[in-house]
Amino acid sequence: MNFVRELVKYNSKMNIGIIGLGTVSRGFLEILQEKTNWVSQKFETDIKVVAIKDIMKGNMYNPKGIDINILLQKLDKGENINDDSLKDEHPLSKIEDIDLIIEASYSDYKTGDPAYTFIKDALSNGKHVVTTNKGPVALHYTELNKLAIKNNVSLRYEGTVLSGTPTFSLIEECLAGDDITEIRGILNGTSNYILSKMAGGESFENALGVAQQKGYAEADPTNDVKGYDARGKVAILSHKVFGVDLGLNSISTKGIDAISKKELDAAKKEGKNIRLIGSLKKTGNTIEAKVQPEALGQDDALSNIDGVTNAIEISTVYLGKIMITGPGAGKLETGYSVFSDVLSVIKNF
Ligand code: HSE
Repeated sequence: MNFVRELVKYNSKMNIGIIGLGTVSRGFLEILQEKTNWVSQKFETDIKVVAIKDIMKGNMYNPKGIDINILLQKLDKGENINDDSLKDEHPLSKIEDIDLIIEASYSDYKTGDPAYTFIKDALSNGKHVVTTNKGPVALHYTELNKLAIKNNVSLRYEGTVLSGTPTFSLIEECLAGDDITEIRGILNGTSNYILSKMAGGESFENALGVAQQKGYAEADPTNDVKGYDARGKVAILSHKVFGVDLGLNSISTKGIDAISKKELDAAKKEGKNIRLIGSLKKTGNTIEAKVQPEALGQDDALSNIDGVTNAIEISTVYLGKIMITGPGAGKLETGYSVFSDVLSVIKNF
């Protein structure tokens, strides 16, 4: 099939380095494997993964491009991928022919590290960065954004909220001229999955175990069930929507860990569902932000969002209420957010 070529000229090459070869990078690689030829035909861009670093699985470097097929087969077999080309201490940011670094190591909400340091390093060395890592963006967005501007590179993080479900692109592009007054959302897939399963009679422990198996939960699931992950996402939304750095401590936070089956049943009797809601409301110059379980009636659009699905209701001045709903976690779902951010860099830089 012949693709219609775009009239604009995009980046002719995109050499990618990946830090962290977990579920998200895996999803990205599976998509890239299928879409490499499409990218080359549609954008005339030669896209390659040239280097990978993973603290457990090993390091790889091949300036001609790593064979993704072989790599995925090795990962399937649980083999180490190390090819002895990169020392552990050698940062990808120092490899000259890398244009963009995908940072997908684990998320830490206390300091944002090690991802925070990786991202700073990459931006300072003139590399575009795509990350799904919530900790560094929630904690250090202002600094990282300044660094990206200073070095004339892009910092993209669509997958930090609602995984690959388009959220920031909608806010940045389509809603750029409207005024957002309030955002409420189901922002943590694991909590929503647990609440939905518990309402159907499963135990908290079983539901959490399945969420972990399916790759929805954080490396430390305390972040999910205590509401810290949703709080990080509220902080990221605050930057994106209101340009305000709230700081995590000013966001009042309660998780789902104390919700009992009894409470879920009592809500159900009243025709309500309990959901973990992250919200931001702007009144004058004040922004009220919180995360808490709420019993929602059937007239609330968020009430019947089930399982790992996420949703955000955005209240605006000109359009009234807009609802976005879609996957909030998962391998291909989050891998897709990385792929779409990489395409944005190809198109815009
Ligand atoms: N642990 C997160 C969740 C992953 O369950 O929503 C996606 O950010």
